[in-house]
Order: sequence, then C-alpha cells, then structure tokens
Amino acid sequence: MAEQRSRQWYAGTDRNAYIHRAWMRRGLPAHAFDGRPHIAIANTASDLTPCNAHLDEVAESVKQGVFEAGGIPLNLPVVSLGETLVRPTAMLWRNMAAMAAEEMLRANPIDGVVLLGGCDKTIPALLMAAASVDLPAVVVPGGPMLTGTFRGQALGCGTDVWRLSEEVRAGTLSEAEFIKSESSMIRSRGHCNTMGTASTMGLLAEALGMVLPGLAGTPAADSRLLEGAHDSGRLAVEMVAARRTPSALLSRGSFLNAIVALAVIGGSTNAVVHLLAIAGRLGIALTQDDFDRTGSQVPLLVNLQPAGRYLMEDFFRAGGLLAVLREVADLLDPTALTVTGRPLVEYLDPARIWDPDVIRPRAEPLQPHAGIAVLHGNLAPDGALIKPAAASEHLLKHRGRAMVFDSIEDLHARIDDPDLDVDADSVLIMRGCGPKGYPGMPEVANMPLPAKLLHQGVRDMVRICDGRMSGTAYGTVVLHVSPESAAGGPLGLVRTGDFVILDVAARRLDVDVPDQDLAARSPDNATLRAYAHPIRGWERLYVQTVQQANTGADLDFLLGSTGSTVSRESH
Ligand code: FES
Repeated sequence: MAEQRSRQWYAGTDRNAYIHRAWMRRGLPAHAFDGRPHIAIANTASDLTPCNAHLDEVAESVKQGVFEAGGIPLNLPVVSLGETLVRPTAMLWRNMAAMAAEEMLRANPIDGVVLLGGCDKTIPALLMAAASVDLPAVVVPGGPMLTGTFRGQALGCGTDVWRLSEEVRAGTLSEAEFIKSESSMIRSRGHCNTMGTASTMGLLAEALGMVLPGLAGTPAADSRLLEGAHDSGRLAVEMVAARRTPSALLSRGSFLNAIVALAVIGGSTNAVVHLLAIAGRLGIALTQDDFDRTGSQVPLLVNLQPAGRYLMEDFFRAGGLLAVLREVADLLDPTALTVTGRPLVEYLDPARIWDPDVIRPRAEPLQPHAGIAVLHGNLAPDGALIKPAAASEHLLKHRGRAMVFDSIEDLHARIDDPDLDVDADSVLIMRGCGPKGYPGMPEVANMPLPAKLLHQGVRDMVRICDGRMSGTAYGTVVLHVSPESAAGGPLGLVRTGDFVILDVAARRLDVDVPDQDLAARSPDNATLRAYAHPIRGWERLYVQTVQQANTGADLDFLLGSTGSTVSRESH
C-alpha cells in the first residue's frame, strides 16, 4: 500500500509518533496505524441545522463502510449552516465554513474524506474545502425529507409556506390550522423537498461526479441512503489508494455537465454562484456566460415545485437524476469522470423514467428552454442573471420607470404605501444586497409587489437586485447584478424615475441615461454608508475580501488550492 499522508504523524518509534498514536488509541488496535487510510467524515450534523440533524446516523454507515474496506473512519464535525435560522444570511458564512473545513482537513492526519451535507450552503462549502485541500473526497448528500400532507394535499417546503400564509390573510385558513400544518410540512428528517437550493446542489454534486452515481436525491428517511453511505465509505478508501483527488476528477467538462443538469432539473439560481466558487478553487476557467451558452437552450424535464407540481420523493421514485440525464446524454461531456473513476455517462444506460409525468421524456418537455440567461449592459457591466422560464413572457422585453429601494428595510417600510409612485410598468430596484453591501448577499431579490398593484390584479413586475433569490422563488427577477452597488456598481447610481430597459432576447439590461450623465452621479445609498465598515471578526474579513457574484462570491485569498502538504511539527 502506498505511503499515506497520515503516516507523517503515526509512523516511527520516536516520541512524536508515540504522542500522535497514544492519544488516538482509545480502543483502536496498533494496526490502525500501520499505513491504512484514515478517512475523515466531515459531518455538518447540528441541532441548529435541522435539515442535517440526521447526518450522525449517516456517518455511522459511512464508518462501517470505511472499516469494511480496511480504513479508519474519523468523525470530524465541521461548521454547519441552517438556512432558516442563521443570521443575517447563511451565505455570509459559506466561505467561513469552507475555509474552516479546508484548514482542519489539512491540519489533521487525514488521507481522504467523506463529505456529509444537505441544507443549502453545506454541500457547496464542503466541495470548496475539498477542492482546495485536494484530498480524495466523496459527497454523501443528506437527502430530501418525505412529502408531507395537510388536509389531503401534498405540502412542499418553502413554496407552500407562502401559499398557506396567504390563505390565512384571505380568511380561508384559520391561524390554528396554519400552525397545525407546521409538523405536516416537515414530515421527516432531511432537507427541503422542492427543487430548491439543497436539492439542486445535492444533484449537481452528482452531476459533477462527486457522488456515488444514483445516490443523490435519495430521501433522507429511505434506508437506501444508509446503504449508499456505507458504499461511499468503502469508496473513500479505494479513492485514497487510487489517489483520486478532486483535481484529478473535476474538469471544465464536469462543470458544463453540471450546468446542463441545472437546466434540465429546473434548479436554483444559487447554483451559479456555488459552481463558480468551486471551479475557482480548482483553477478551472468557468464564467457566468458559460451558464447561458451551455444551459439556456436545455429543456426543462423535471416537473417539481417551484417550476412544476411534484416533490423530491416523487423525483426519486420516477427514476432520479440518472434517468433525467439519460434524456440529455448527447449534451454531456463523455469524458467527465466520477468518484468511481468511471465517466458519468457510463451510468446512464440502465436508468429509466418510471413516471413520465414527474420526469418528462425529451420529446415532451415541461418547457423547451429552461436555463439561465446572463444579461449585460450599463446597469450590469459584469453581468446579471434571469431565469426566463420563471419569468412572465410579456415582461421579457420591457421599458419602465425605476422605483429604487436602498435596502430590504427601506423596501418593507414603503412597498405597501398607497402613495408609492408605481404602476404595473414600473421596475422595482433594490440595492445594497450584494456580497459586500448586505453583507452576505441574501435571498431577497424576489421582492414583494406593492399592495396597491396586487389589489389591481398585477401578479408580476420586473424586479432588479444585486442579491440572490430563494431556489423556490418565481417571477421576472433580475438578480446577482454585478458589480453590486456597494462595490461601486452602476446600480448605485440609478434614481427613481429613470427608465430601465430589459431585453432578455438581446441579453441586455440598461438604464436609459447617457453614460456621461450616469458617470457624473455619485451613489446615494444610506445602507451602503451604514454597513461600509464592519468593525471586527469574520464580517470585516468578508467585506474586505469578498469577490463579486459573477465570479462566485468567494474571498479573494481563498481562490485556488494549497493542496494537502503536511505542515511542520510543534511538539
Ligand atoms: Fe435546509 Fe431548506 S431550510 S434545505
């Protein structure tokens, strides 16, 4: 067996090797240190990340697999991020979680790692860490929760919270019934069961090649998840022997495959910023425009909320990711590898669609073109995103007067004011919501519509923001505007009353103000002033070094990889 990294701690008879082994013995036999691979289980289980709380049990199955294959499994709790609880937004902490996991993997006697994630930011953070430390790594996605039902109807996480709360406002559902639905919605362990960010990133980790093919999307409560976890533990040991690291596996083709997958499953726009960040750790040239070039013409085949009707349990039952990728196999890079060492496309042949209403055949797509469009113009010199399939057809080419909000608080204070100077053609703009400005780039771009327009029957308007939006959100929303207003982007120069022009077919987003006039303006953003100088801690480091959304919103000094070189000894 080739010399393991962990041998640099454990091999030999000197005092240091003695110390390293002795403190680790605690029941482990001497042969645990004879050169067999030590596999970390990077575990994001936490009571404060309810979507990942079951991962301790998943870790036990991984452990059995590692032992069975002759390795030594080691539970390594890492920073966890619960989307519903963490303030001001979990995205502020994604890079911190990634940095902490990377450093702890490098600092410890670890030869390979199994990554356990689920809730939105956890899989992206773990993949960023694994890419930068470049140890053999395999992801076990924690899986979605089972479909809940309430009053005889299926409940989808996120999407149906808004629907039920609207029913309370309309008087068709009592507050008591509304509260009762809480435990019906969250029926089991697992992450959100719509095609939100958690489901998307679990599936895209598999499309990238970082998951045992066929495992992503397995519901958290399904015993096949534990079987897959066991197999992933075995695989991690094999990967160490084969020196199958992220840099050896992942290519530009792997990321283009993930972009095809993102479009065909109707995944979250958040995947753009996460895939760019992971690629940035590997030094793979991937740009926002690749999402448009590769994904925008791909059909939507998965009928899941929020774009469609069903939930993740149905998707898994209907054949899962491999069945849907088989429909677009011709669009995939046939050379892109998986953790098994074999190409992803080799796993597609046996896959079948078992329910064509949930996973549509290519000939009967839910929508013919489902991917993300990337806009440029004098409002977004470095780009902005829109999901045309989630937008209103009649707004895809639009000219309207801007109504500008400087923060989410400003929006909430004024949006329902009956005197707000807006009509159905107005363009709502919210700024101060980018990586630096908020800070952390929250999911607020899908702004609520003004109450007075809702009462007039308006159901969608053009909305523009330098923040993100929830994977469960819908509407004609232009988001991830780069550069953000707090970084000096022109979004900070727009004034209420300016005309804004959106032309999705031409991929343009402009404010109808001559360039020299725009350049002569200075930003007037109260939020920007309030948040410009965080005093200490992570927030300060983040604001000073975070990059813009169009390159993945990673910290500038975390780009690339420093590998797994063992540092010097202090004993
Ligand atoms: Fe954790 Fe939705 S809140 S995945």
